[in-house]
Amino acid sequence: MIRLGIAGMGIRGKLYANAIKQYPKAQLVSVSEPVQVTLDQCTEKFDVKGYKDYKEMIEQEDLDAIIVATPDFAHCDIAIRAAEKGIHLLVEKPFATSSDEAKAMLEVVEKSRVKCMVGFENRWNMPFVSIKDAVGQGEIGHIITMNARLNDTIYVPTKMLSWAAETTPAWFLLSHLIDMSCWLTGKKVINAQATGIKEKLVSLGIDTYDSIIAMLTFEDGTIGSYTTSWVLPECMPMIYDLKYEIIGTEGCFYVDLQDQMVHEGGKLYKHRHTLGTPVAGRLTAAPELMLYEFLDNLIDDIYPAADAYAGYVNTLIIEAIHQSIHRGGPVNIEYK
Ligand SMILES: NC(=O)c1ccc[n+]([C@@H]2O[C@H](COP(=O)([O-])OP(=O)(O)OC[C@H]3O[C@@H](n4cnc5c(N)ncnc54)[C@H](O)[C@@H]3O)[C@@H](O)[C@H]2O)c1
Repeated sequence: MIRLGIAGMGIRGKLYANAIKQYPKAQLVSVSEPVQVTLDQCTEKFDVKGYKDYKEMIEQEDLDAIIVATPDFAHCDIAIRAAEKGIHLLVEKPFATSSDEAKAMLEVVEKSRVKCMVGFENRWNMPFVSIKDAVGQGEIGHIITMNARLNDTIYVPTKMLSWAAETTPAWFLLSHLIDMSCWLTGKKVINAQATGIKEKLVSLGIDTYDSIIAMLTFEDGTIGSYTTSWVLPECMPMIYDLKYEIIGTEGCFYVDLQDQMVHEGGKLYKHRHTLGTPVAGRLTAAPELMLYEFLDNLIDDIYPAADAYAGYVNTLIIEAIHQSIHRGGPVNIEYK
């Protein structure tokens, strides 16, 4: 039986705690959460031991693995302490929010030989799963360009996340698109150029970007353009809007996650998102499939593919995007 702990019992922590119940060979034994009322609710609901301080959980519990589901800026210390104790890791994206942190995390993971998966859940999202092999087998020829956008409604930075001002839509959203590009093509990004705008969220007292646009150049000259926005109106049919185009010399794939909906006409015109609909009670959403592969990897003694190095690369690229916004002009990316 895999003994699991979760650090951070917000939206993602609770999602994983629920999902673990459907995996017969794993058991959630403890959680850590600094907000007392949330901690109390979770220890009761999931019938587990609770800690306000993750350091105590790591020191006192005999855990096989920890899921790091704390805010974007609070992954590093938890991951390092756990890995140093030989505890395997599922770290939410973004892996880290600086290259120094990501490098330190990668080094500890490599030295301790723990298995580390980064929560790039779109690798388990069916529309992307369905094109992965076709892209790899050259069905659309040599990839020459990718255009992608991932926007959220303003609900996310204003009502869902209490810590939006301490991150950016690049860390929170572009991390997904950039991982998709690296994963689908296997290519390395060498240069980033970006610009961003702060207006609406700042006017609401949340000091972060409304929108960021980035252009990435890959090692073979492939170019990618990426847009993210955090201020869509709340009336949009889904809380997020993800569109991804990948264009090769012989063809293209267009992915639109809003295509995966059922449209319902009644008193109102409504939309039902179908991706991740439970089937006969079994959970099938991307983060749940990701968690189950992580647990399978632990049982089968396999190092996850979405690993700490992928997290480190992703962090470097997004850091370069922020540097380009601040400095103006292109920023070269150098890897360890
Ligand atoms: N893979 C995905 O698609 C996906 C989707 C949403 C969020 N995420 C990521 O998951 C992580 C958690 O996001 P969430 O939506 O669950 O956020 P959330 O705010 O709902 O939950 C975070 C929880 O961590 C707790 N916490 C623990 N340590 C903390 C600290 N040092 N400072 C502040 N709070 C601390 C908070 O109290 C809160 O309960 C983030 O890194 C986020 O980017 C990933």
